[in-house]
Amino acid sequence: MERKPIILNHDTDEGLRQKKYIEKLKQINDRFEIENGRKKKMHVATFGCAMNFHDSEKLKGVLEEIGYVDCDTETEADFVVYNTCAVRENAEQRVYGRIGRLKALKRKNPDLIIALCGCMMQQETVIETLKRSHRHVDIVFGTHNIYRLAELLDTRLTTGKPVFDIWDSYKDIVEDLPTVRKHKFKSSVNIIFGCNNFCSYCIVPYVRGRERSRSVEDILEEVKTLVADGVIEVTLLGQNVNSYGKNLDEPISFAELISKIAEVEGLKRVRFMTSHPKDLSDELIDVMARYDNICKSVHLPFQSGSTEILDKMNRRYTKESYLALIGRIKAKMPDIAISTDIIVGFPGETEEDFLHTLDVLKQVEFDSVFTFIYSKRTGTPAAVLEDQIDEPVIKERFNRLLDIVKDKAYIKSMAHIGNEYKILIEQKNDQQEGMYTGRLDNGHLVHVYGTEDMIGQIHRVRILSGKTFYLIGEIVNEG
Ligand code: 5AD
Ligand code: SF4
Repeated sequence: MERKPIILNHDTDEGLRQKKYIEKLKQINDRFEIENGRKKKMHVATFGCAMNFHDSEKLKGVLEEIGYVDCDTETEADFVVYNTCAVRENAEQRVYGRIGRLKALKRKNPDLIIALCGCMMQQETVIETLKRSHRHVDIVFGTHNIYRLAELLDTRLTTGKPVFDIWDSYKDIVEDLPTVRKHKFKSSVNIIFGCNNFCSYCIVPYVRGRERSRSVEDILEEVKTLVADGVIEVTLLGQNVNSYGKNLDEPISFAELISKIAEVEGLKRVRFMTSHPKDLSDELIDVMARYDNICKSVHLPFQSGSTEILDKMNRRYTKESYLALIGRIKAKMPDIAISTDIIVGFPGETEEDFLHTLDVLKQVEFDSVFTFIYSKRTGTPAAVLEDQIDEPVIKERFNRLLDIVKDKAYIKSMAHIGNEYKILIEQKNDQQEGMYTGRLDNGHLVHVYGTEDMIGQIHRVRILSGKTFYLIGEIVNEG
């Protein structure tokens, strides 16, 4: 088979164009259903961050409109999508492993369509590897064009050739894509795409491009539509939500945006992620404190406690300014939940630098901590630094860090016992019959005995007991 990439037309009215492809493909799938007595099945596997999970909801939305139904494994599927992450190298290796294993499935079922998308696909070396060693892949697209899935599938089917559609820049942000929400009562909403920060270890600015904020009107319209459709909790998404609005024709701050959203009638909870410490403003702290329905929760990665390492990471804050920011946040909202990310083993990290990281952990009562071993990403400035740290040293530091994180999480969990909180009940608990799982406004998991109709509702609970990463509560009255 010839593997020349297919070049597509890039018209302006993308939304309408895509709808035409969706209708055309739906007819094909309807015919398949009549002939085979079943609908075609899709399996969408998502790797990485909340943005990717939200993108996958859009991909599933399009595929559902085309007539696909969800299935749990690749083996049953007629259409497999891997929505990939590029942040760490070992995650990429695992994706290659899974792509390799699809070869046997494709041999058994030549009609199986394999699509790959997401951040990994924005790297030239990945595209070269796929073209060279994974010739069973049908459709490859990047992060800027996920809304064109229907067109890409149509092109694949009509030409019989694999389709590669990777852009290194975006055109418009396409609104109005069908989405399949995992939960009826909560949803994510993108507010800003891309990142301008260029932290020296991070591949995201290269694969997701420069910052583009959606318009206030489009965001508000989406939130209102979601609320009218039964959503009570919205999570605002961006690599750095705090720089929202800076590049709009009429600049507006993130604090102004979230206050407008908090005022949407019927919205019970609004949360957001991720925040960059250098951009989290006092204006935002005031707005968070003022609105009851803005969750008292913030994800504020500090990455390293050493000011010297932070400088090499191009983070543009110091250990002291980070701690001062935490102090200002806690002064206005003493019960706020703060979560963070830490990288261990950045090039040049000494034992003394690492001790500064542990010191920040000691000084700040984090509610959850995500720990990462530094991964060298080709193309980033940190990848060419000379003093890369040896693996055994990194592993030893990482294990010390994990022990502290677990101990502190346990103590933090125990401190909730006896208190009463409101939780949004999200789903049935798979492990224990009759139990349901919800979250505190700060994101902490709580399991309670309840009934099916409580899913999607906010209830008051008393915390009875806890383990490191979850709590057990009882419902005390309706919220
Ligand atoms: N190596 C390890 N961790 C990384 N992160 C981003 N890039 C890398 C890398 N090259 C982590 C950061 C970020 C989180 C999403 O992933 O901690 O906050
Ligand atoms: Fe990566 Fe830094 Fe941007 Fe976060 S702020 S996505 S760590 S470059």
